[in-house]
Amino acid sequence: MTTRASSPVGIFDSGLGGLSILRHIRAQLPHEHLVYVADTGFAPYGDKPEHVVAERSLAVTRFLVEHGIKALVVACNTATISAVKLLRERFPDMPIVGVEPGLKPAAAATRSRKVGVLATERTLAGEKFLRLRDQVAEGTQTTFLLQPCRGLVERIEDGDAEGTMTLLRRYVTPLLEQGADTLVLGCTHYPLVKASIEHVAAEAGHAHATLVDTGEAVARQLGRLLEAGGLLRAPQATAPATLEAWTSASATALASAFDVLLGMTPPVHETTFDAP
Ligand code: DGL
Repeated sequence: MTTRASSPVGIFDSGLGGLSILRHIRAQLPHEHLVYVADTGFAPYGDKPEHVVAERSLAVTRFLVEHGIKALVVACNTATISAVKLLRERFPDMPIVGVEPGLKPAAAATRSRKVGVLATERTLAGEKFLRLRDQVAEGTQTTFLLQPCRGLVERIEDGDAEGTMTLLRRYVTPLLEQGADTLVLGCTHYPLVKASIEHVAAEAGHAHATLVDTGEAVARQLGRLLEAGGLLRAPQATAPATLEAWTSASATALASAFDVLLGMTPPVHETTFDAP
């Protein structure tokens, strides 16, 4: 018999970014079945109007709900800022965890009281984000320097190392030159190129800049919500946790990214996420 606790957790992003969250979920909650969605055919989300991202997030969530998920992780800052409120209204009985740029941990870490925030244009223009920024800035006397990183998600999706470095130099170096000693990775794609960001910071003479991402905290919050709802799956020696993935672009490309980035080889399927 399938109980709710044995149902999978759904995780989605516009592409590969959510893998930076999935790796923490797998590490912290190794007994959970996971279904991952990469909406790569519709990426990037970050340069699209808020209502477009919200509608698309709803379509992907419906797809996951039809696949029987017990909880959802919106593993994308852009989709969280644009759609998490709507998703919670539409699916009030399902635990939903979003991802937001880690402004509070960054404010706790900075010594210069200047923090650079790297994110998509859509995230940095979102009302929900700006409210959080104002609240944390006022409460902690921190200046947040906002840097929209146009084009970076596409370079990371394409595995274009040179193009990624060029854009990182353009976006990261000025923040450090303005006195930021802490950088918020406000898009789930960016932790995937953390080593390149560290390299650019070192080149600019700021090797000790602190990088903040919230993947571990998101996995912890998911664990808390599953526990509170009696939804944690018990370990089963005969039925190990499964992982399955869906994409709106190439299954071969997503399968290769899972292998290269996480050393995982789940079955990957293609679909459009449009309503039938
Ligand atoms: N990983 C998404 C985020 O966290 C990228 C959004 C995009 O597709 O532009 O914002």
